Amino acid sequence: MELDAYLEGAAEQIDIVLDREFGSLPGVLNKASAHLILAGGKRLRPIVVMLAADLIQKGTSQSILPAALALEVTHTFTLVHDDIMDGDVARRGVPTVHTKWDEPTAILAGDVLYAHAFELICAAMASDLAKVRSVSILAGACANLCDGQHKDIHFGNRDNVTEEEYIEMVSKKTGVLYAASAAIGGTLAEGTAQQVNSLYEWGLNSGIAFQIQDDLIDLMADSATSGKDRASDLREGKQTLVAILAREKGIDLTKYRKPALTDAEIDEAIHLLEESGVIADVRKKALEHVEQAKTTLDQFPDSQEKEILIQIASYFVSRGY
Ligand code: IPE
Ligand code: IPE
Ligand code: MG
Ligand code: MG
Ligand code: MG
Repeated sequence: MELDAYLEGAAEQIDIVLDREFGSLPGVLNKASAHLILAGGKRLRPIVVMLAADLIQKGTSQSILPAALALEVTHTFTLVHDDIMDGDVARRGVPTVHTKWDEPTAILAGDVLYAHAFELICAAMASDLAKVRSVSILAGACANLCDGQHKDIHFGNRDNVTEEEYIEMVSKKTGVLYAASAAIGGTLAEGTAQQVNSLYEWGLNSGIAFQIQDDLIDLMADSATSGKDRASDLREGKQTLVAILAREKGIDLTKYRKPALTDAEIDEAIHLLEESGVIADVRKKALEHVEQAKTTLDQFPDSQEKEILIQIASYFVSRGY
């Protein structure tokens, strides 16, 4: 089956269960929590949880479905808070939670999701030990994620962030959640420590590649395609790999760091970055992480799940803008 069709079908299945869980909750805070969940999304993290579980033991994905939802709910909590930090107004094609309601409501809505994620892990059908381990993996990922987000925000005050620092930052803010998704799927399916470690490494490396591509999408895609604010990173002066490699080539992106950035200015920046080879260099580095991700699956025998995980790593950097 084509990867696109597979991902679409899997996301639809997740959507149905999320609609059931979040579709008709009472009260303003619950509605604010459910807002982005019900707005859609690619559902890649729960898909990874389920694939990892079936990779270890075919057929387990259905029994651990609540844990798959937990990863989407955690992801959504990070999005709600991230939009406050980044000052963005659009997400998944709808207004962000703090613009539709207000900042306190958005902070609390994120907190509600964060708590609910751990409840969902506990609702999976798996051994208690596997669930305790999964809770621990998710808690560790959340702490790392906060550190990554903290770095993301504070790198904005510096003009000497290195490529190594960027990779550490994105591995924390984005990589660890994909790593946790794969590791939790493997853990709940009773994978060995070595198998779970390999799955974790797959997620970490493909997650780094995913974030590099997200940075390219932020710059290159229009809002209708991404469902998010266009060129938010440029406007906020984010130290993305694009910005770091541009600086190394003597291209100054700081002049684009302003709230009222026009489409013409964004197009000018893109032109500059394409002409100078920065975009091509960034794409090349993203691909290196994809290749690294793929090798982490070498120890697993061939299976449909393994093939899809390999293809997903490539899709992370080919998804469009
Ligand atoms: C966006 O994640 C946040 C990042 C980690 C870059 P996705 O691109 O997976 O967003 P949705 O879930 O499909 O909306
Ligand atoms: C955020 O990175 C990653 C998270 C942990 C939420 P971005 O700030 O680039 O994510 P988007 O582009 O807003 O989705
Ligand atoms: Mg953001
Ligand atoms: Mg951000
Ligand atoms: Mg982004």
